[in-house]
Amino acid sequence: MKGVRGMSWAVVKVVAGFAAAALASPALSETRYDAATRVFRLDGGGVTYAFGVSTTGVLKSIYWGPRLASSDTLAVPVLDDISTTDPASSIDAQEFASWGGAIYTEPAFKIAWPDGVRDAVLRYRSFKPEGDGLAIELADTRRPIRVTLHYTIDTATGVVGRWATISNDGSTPIRIDQAFSAAWSLPVAHDYRLHYLTGQWAAEWMLQERPITPGSTVIESRRGITSHQASPWFAIDRAGLSGEESGPVWFGALGWSGSWRISIDQNPRGDIRVTGGLNPFDFSLRLQPRQSLDTPVFYGGYSDGGMGGASRLLHRFELARVLPGRPEPPLRPVLYDSWEATGFAVDATKQIALAERAARVGVERFVMDDGWFGQRNSDRAGLGDWVVNDQKFPHGLAPLINRVHELGMDFGLWVEPEMVSPDSDLYRAHPDWVLGMAGRQRTEERHQLVLNLARTDVRDHVYKALDDLLNQNSIQFLKWDNNRDWAEAGWPELAPEDQQAVYVKYIRNLYWIIDQLRTHHPGLEIESCAGGGGRVDLGVLQRTDEVWTSDNTDPFDRLTIQDGFTHAFTPAVMMAWVTDSPNWANNRSTSLRYRFLSAMQGGLGVGADLGKWTDAEMAEAGRYVSAYKQVRRTVQRGDLYRLVSPRAGSERSATFYVARDRQQAVLFTFLHSSTKFDKQPAITVRGLDPAARYRVRAIDRPAVAANPVQSGAYWMANGIDIPLTGDFQADARIFEVAK
Ligand code: DGJ
Repeated sequence: MKGVRGMSWAVVKVVAGFAAAALASPALSETRYDAATRVFRLDGGGVTYAFGVSTTGVLKSIYWGPRLASSDTLAVPVLDDISTTDPASSIDAQEFASWGGAIYTEPAFKIAWPDGVRDAVLRYRSFKPEGDGLAIELADTRRPIRVTLHYTIDTATGVVGRWATISNDGSTPIRIDQAFSAAWSLPVAHDYRLHYLTGQWAAEWMLQERPITPGSTVIESRRGITSHQASPWFAIDRAGLSGEESGPVWFGALGWSGSWRISIDQNPRGDIRVTGGLNPFDFSLRLQPRQSLDTPVFYGGYSDGGMGGASRLLHRFELARVLPGRPEPPLRPVLYDSWEATGFAVDATKQIALAERAARVGVERFVMDDGWFGQRNSDRAGLGDWVVNDQKFPHGLAPLINRVHELGMDFGLWVEPEMVSPDSDLYRAHPDWVLGMAGRQRTEERHQLVLNLARTDVRDHVYKALDDLLNQNSIQFLKWDNNRDWAEAGWPELAPEDQQAVYVKYIRNLYWIIDQLRTHHPGLEIESCAGGGGRVDLGVLQRTDEVWTSDNTDPFDRLTIQDGFTHAFTPAVMMAWVTDSPNWANNRSTSLRYRFLSAMQGGLGVGADLGKWTDAEMAEAGRYVSAYKQVRRTVQRGDLYRLVSPRAGSERSATFYVARDRQQAVLFTFLHSSTKFDKQPAITVRGLDPAARYRVRAIDRPAVAANPVQSGAYWMANGIDIPLTGDFQADARIFEVAK
């Protein structure tokens, strides 16, 4: 986020007129304040974001969209009451509306004082530069509560980051009932469409689309975890103007792994406001004098390149600004995971046999899944007892780990640190360590309860258990699982008015544990898994390197799952395994080729029972793994074009990944089923250098197109024929600039 702002603040800090600080280059970001109009303006990438202070001190949104000229002037809108039931105070596009005065729309902020006063009227007080961005201070007109709004803008992508700090400057506690991170406003229009992701276990990331009409759409999780059912991401485009590769798209994503809410509201006039952050449902937090609460970051971006352009921006932002190792996170190694092969029946002999087979096909990281610890012979026992099961591993993990290392692979281990089985030594010793309410049933899911990580003693215990495990064994990777949502989210040891803070304190402690582990075990990588894709958001992605996308490993179902996923998250973190056929999820049989090409569109893994694969299958798998290694940088770091959607009801789907330097690209095509004998149209690709000449070859076959070398312009205009017939057929082509 370096730009001219850093050096020009002194110059532009309080200048009259934007023109005084001309942009050096549109690639730079800049934050400016015009004292004459009281307008703040952030420019980054192709985006301008502006807001300002009204004459009465209200902080109002002004503009969010394509980057404006440096010389453009912006003014704070002045709005009169429309009627007594539509006062300006409720219609104004506020940056952070508090519930107080006449406001009937979704507030970002709602509080209560011990004397019953619940009215809060926030007015602008001051601003200051902060890091690469800006901090704006608002305060209540009568009582000592302060809200600091933080803003950043990313130089490359124009993605704006916003969060709030709520500070109690008084001498009595204040109850916070609602504390969102930000409100985003869009100009009046009547053809907005909302896109969002819903799902369920083994069927995550289903893209939904609906027109935005007056009223509210709420997407949320009340589950204490990000959830399979909804993802904290939204995109809004214009029905008349936007498509996959063109037109305006505004999008946003929350950096929070607990209960969250995003509310998309349109008033009858057509104004849109998107408010989001911590879910106020069942939440409250008592803020003591001199304490403050930071809300999660709500990121927002704009693209005029359609949904494809929006997701490419977000992918770039995640890679450069969010993921561990940013701005150049390490590439995902090819992984093997034992879950589908052995279930809970892990032991040293079986795991070593699998590791030897995995190494033969070119796997780089061997992960032993569930079953290695405590009395974990099924999902009924053992969680919480993170000690090696000495019947399964009489000599500890060392023989397995050493063999994995000898074979040239990293060693990874499955853990589910936030959980406890009632049948475990941990639970027998500390039955009070779980979420629950006094005298009430504690609902078990998968025979497990949720440890109350919000408690410092529980947090420290979990940290120590993991730290010991990592100190005692040479482990390079943890698969961090979480197989249930919360229920009865009580914290009975605290006063009733403090218990509902669990929604924030738990997640902060979860982040603390992961951050500490990473600090004390540099080089450790972590996968975020929650029974598949139940915990994927920009908060957890700041501290985990990849995610387990879904327990559904069927390669055809995965096409739709992966298509939805990539709307919000980079394929660089999207793990997919090649497993056995027929697939456990739906009994569908597919070829090894189809399974590999489906899984190669993200981070490749293998999860099959390799002991059952024939020599021919092992050799074929080895060829795919080695082909993947030739294109993985392009897949994981390149630009993704979703050329033909698997959702569109077409027989085919296709994705295209173009390396940043445009020297290589890879086209994956899938034929779901042939129902007629029609010739399929050529696939026109995108994003190549039109002037460069690209040679195209099949990823796994000698056969090539009749004229394999053509210009980028040719492949993008004329396209490429991918003749596929039959059911569940797949093809991949590599485009390389001809030397
Ligand atoms: C759910 C995960 O998504 C699976 O991959 C596997 O790790 C199981 N849990 C193990 O219990």
